[in-house]
Amino acid sequence: MDIENHTALVTGANSGLGKAVARALAARGARVLMVARSRDRGEAARDELHAATGSERIELLLCDLASQAEVRRLAETVRERTDALHLLINNAGTAFRERKLTEDGVERALAINALAPFLLTNLLLEQLHAGAPSRIINVGTRMDTALDFDDLNWERRPYRMMQAYGQSKLGLIHFTRALAGRLEGSGVTVNCVFPGVFRSNLGGTDGAQGVFWKSVALLLGWALPPPEKAAERVIHAALSDDMADVSGAYVGDRETLKVPDQAADPAANERFWQLSARLVGLDQAET
Ligand SMILES: NC(=O)c1ccc[n+]([C@@H]2O[C@H](COP(=O)([O-])OP(=O)(O)OC[C@H]3O[C@@H](n4cnc5c(N)ncnc54)[C@H](OP(=O)(O)O)[C@@H]3O)[C@@H](O)[C@H]2O)c1
Repeated sequence: MDIENHTALVTGANSGLGKAVARALAARGARVLMVARSRDRGEAARDELHAATGSERIELLLCDLASQAEVRRLAETVRERTDALHLLINNAGTAFRERKLTEDGVERALAINALAPFLLTNLLLEQLHAGAPSRIINVGTRMDTALDFDDLNWERRPYRMMQAYGQSKLGLIHFTRALAGRLEGSGVTVNCVFPGVFRSNLGGTDGAQGVFWKSVALLLGWALPPPEKAAERVIHAALSDDMADVSGAYVGDRETLKVPDQAADPAANERFWQLSARLVGLDQAET
């Protein structure tokens, strides 16, 4: 696919998978809006990608996705910079050893991994429609779990890092499927991609998951594939003709994966959508 006229937005683009995806898109000529929360890490990654690809069309936008106010500001900046968006890659994700709430009163993993993509995507739908055919890719993980809709904030259960991480990523699948229904026939598709397990800094900046991943890396002798390998899955979902008409799917390595049972239930997907809309304060007019 020729993507020289495309504008792509990639969150978590300063590290790991997001950086590899941003690089692949820039190398193919797309204008890339990189989102990072740290100016230093973001500028370093932007300069690295600029040097590696020679592209002058890489722009850095700053946003801490844990803050709904910052997500709203990010969407505003994107709207100011472009009328049409062709690719939205909701890649940023993390996990935390301890339960804490964001400034908006939401458990952090849920806020960053599920609600930020929900809010950002909804606020950029007009630009995605203007860019149609356009694609939204949500980066998920593979974990068979179920969300407790009555305790999204982990107030009633002991907090477990991997469960909270897995459930927030299940939220992303609920969101993907509920959105796909709303976008049917619009030329905008949305899919969730499981990128496989790969070498990265996941959770490392916060020191949240560093110990876990360092142990995994040590055990596996640093044998995990690099993020560039995982990026191939995202790029395939984002650009291949095979995926042009696919929406609402959970995809791995060019294969459709079975969703956790809860996400096979349209009522559960809709319930997550409504809860998300309430938690981010999106009114009917905005969704
Ligand atoms: N690594 C794996 O094996 C694996 C497996 C399945 C799924 N995934 C998913 O792949 C995606 C990319 O992760 P990765 O493995 O490439 O890890 P990574 O190298 O740590 O990248 C994660 C990115 O998300 C950003 N991020 C985290 N919290 C943020 C926040 N509050 N606001 C803005 N950006 C934030 C990070 O920014 P900082 O650099 O500032 O922290 C970083 O750019 C994640 O969604 C992850 O869940 C990874």
